[in-house]
Amino acid sequence: MKREEYIQEIKRLKKERDAIILAHYYTDNDLQEIADYVGDSYYLSKVAREAKEQVIVFCGVKFMGESAKILNPHKTVLLPDDVADCPMAHMVTPQQIKQVRQEHEDLAVVCYINSTAQIKAESDVCVTSANALNIVKTLKQSKIFFVPDQHLGTYVASKVPEKEFIFNDGYCHIHRSIQKEAVLREKALRPEAQVLVHPECPSEIVDLADYVGSTTGIIDYVAKSQADSFIVCTEIGILYELKKNNPNKNFYFVGEKKECADMKRITLSKLYEALRDMKYEVVLEEAERKAAEEALLAMHRLAD
Ligand code: 13P
Ligand code: SF4
Repeated sequence: MKREEYIQEIKRLKKERDAIILAHYYTDNDLQEIADYVGDSYYLSKVAREAKEQVIVFCGVKFMGESAKILNPHKTVLLPDDVADCPMAHMVTPQQIKQVRQEHEDLAVVCYINSTAQIKAESDVCVTSANALNIVKTLKQSKIFFVPDQHLGTYVASKVPEKEFIFNDGYCHIHRSIQKEAVLREKALRPEAQVLVHPECPSEIVDLADYVGSTTGIIDYVAKSQADSFIVCTEIGILYELKKNNPNKNFYFVGEKKECADMKRITLSKLYEALRDMKYEVVLEEAERKAAEEALLAMHRLAD
């Protein structure tokens, strides 16, 4: 089928199935175009939680579909690709969490939403890059075990000096591959440009930032900024929304094309097949779902 035919069929099937399509800013442009809602992890989790439709199709990686299912146990949640997964989500184990809990008192386990349902089930509260700072500040515990992302954890810790942090060694390979020298080179070429950094980047990149925030945070910052040039330190998919909203502003990405292969696994044809065949359905074991739901609901309570 041609692109236009896929689009037509997806729209038809969406009505037939009573489905809502959600897409993350790192997915392909076509998916961002056809989705009912596009956003960062926090916004999409909120939309999924409030969805009226019976079927939620999540154009994103596995942890996003899992989070939608955790919050909507009676709905059908579909992932157009059954392999698309965030490697970082697997960079901590339940055993590590249990061990740290045993070793420390007055401890909160804070897990980045980029984690498996199993890890959420072991955690006290979930966070995303949009709300991590505010949520951690409000926790009553004096110690925080932040999993799995060491870089987001380090960023949060730098802003909350009153608490003691224990870090895990997880990371996003896309954001970790952004080199300080490359950002400095880009800055030297365009001294007027503002540097926008996602907090999954290492601290030496965060230190160069004019603004640090989630994908939505970066998009909102650009919309309000008087500047017309930006050096963007995150995944390339965000460019679609940035360009759409700001056709006259200039965006420069650092180093080689920063593309998350997992996010890019989702295509129009796979979205069409997901709706046609009602695949791939997210299925979770109920006890684990329930425990994970507590951590996600705690996030929504503290962030909303
Ligand atoms: P946000 O869109 O929440 O900033 O998350 C970035 C990310 O890496 C999602 O996988
Ligand atoms: Fe995971 Fe990084 Fe891809 Fe986001 S961009 S899904 S954190 S690997």
